[in-house]
Amino acid sequence: MIATTLSRIEGELGELRIAGSPVEELAGRTTLEELAARLWGRPPQELGEWRARAWHRLRHVLPLARGLAPVDGVRLAVSALPEGPPEAFTAAVAVATAGLLGGERPDPALGHTADFLRMARGAVGTPAEVAALETYLVTVAEHGLNASTFAARVIASTRAGTGAAVAGALGALKGPLHGGAPGPVLDMLDEIGRPDRASEWIADRLRSGERLMGFGHRIYRVRDPRVAVLRAALEGLRRERRDLEARLALADAVEAAALQALARHRPDRRLDTNVEFATALLLEALGFPRESFTAVFAVGRVVGWCGHVLEQERDGRLIRPA
Ligand code: ACO
Repeated sequence: MIATTLSRIEGELGELRIAGSPVEELAGRTTLEELAARLWGRPPQELGEWRARAWHRLRHVLPLARGLAPVDGVRLAVSALPEGPPEAFTAAVAVATAGLLGGERPDPALGHTADFLRMARGAVGTPAEVAALETYLVTVAEHGLNASTFAARVIASTRAGTGAAVAGALGALKGPLHGGAPGPVLDMLDEIGRPDRASEWIADRLRSGERLMGFGHRIYRVRDPRVAVLRAALEGLRRERRDLEARLALADAVEAAALQALARHRPDRRLDTNVEFATALLLEALGFPRESFTAVFAVGRVVGWCGHVLEQERDGRLIRPA
């Protein structure tokens, strides 16, 4: 039996509590460092220094990641580090993701999210951009025993250490049924192109047996609560970015058409919008290229993985299903 106290998901009700608080309460009010303190049972120590250390070590490793998907480049980078505390891997995932995108040197004086955005884009983000990214990273930091976290726990249960657990979790996160969906969500929007083409495109895909990316969830039987949180963060950006209007209008039309079509397609199974749909819109608005979305997801989720490694090492035994 494997269980966690780090978060609680009520799939029928569409409720998520992380470290005891509803996700709606954390979003916009809590930094990733503050959430890490609650998930790890102690505040992160010198995360900025760990970013600087990771940068020095990884600048010789990241050139080897050329040609790989960014999330695979991050896995390569994590595998090249010696064992260390959760800070080492939280820093490394951010530095490696940013390094594969732009690669500015870390500024240990900045908050983790602000520095990650600055390193990745080569310029400091506006307060609204940093706030939107912080909301995203906090919202996706922890989500129970999902596939990547479960992979991390199996590895931690062998006492292999945090680095091995994070590397394994990155492997599980990559798949399109888990953390690899948001890039394909944008491909879908691009292919549809115009709101009035949404219904036909979607019906066609469902007829040929394909899944719609950004919809459905193993646990939630209603809308994933993280969708509303991320859409609210997007509203913050929309106020200063008129260029987002057309994209968001298309996304609204596609979401509405998809929900109608899915209800007809599977009347027995409620399939609703999941976090990846809103993630795609938010990360695109922040200027991240779509192929990097899974790696950016890991920048937040690594905090949860580390919390699970600590919990497993403290309370768990070897995980060995019959
Ligand atoms: N589009 C079309 N049909 C779907 C979808 C979808 N998005 N999701 C589920 N279904 C269908 C399945 O084909 C399946 O049909 P079958 O029984 O005839 O094979 C049935 O609904 C099963 O539904 P569930 O049991 O609810 O789905 P499951 O738990 O197996 O899968 C998953 C959940 C993987 C998320 C699925 O909904 C999916 O593939 N969605 C698209 C990919 C996606 O958005 N992934 C991100 C998930 S969020 C995250 O991991 C962070």
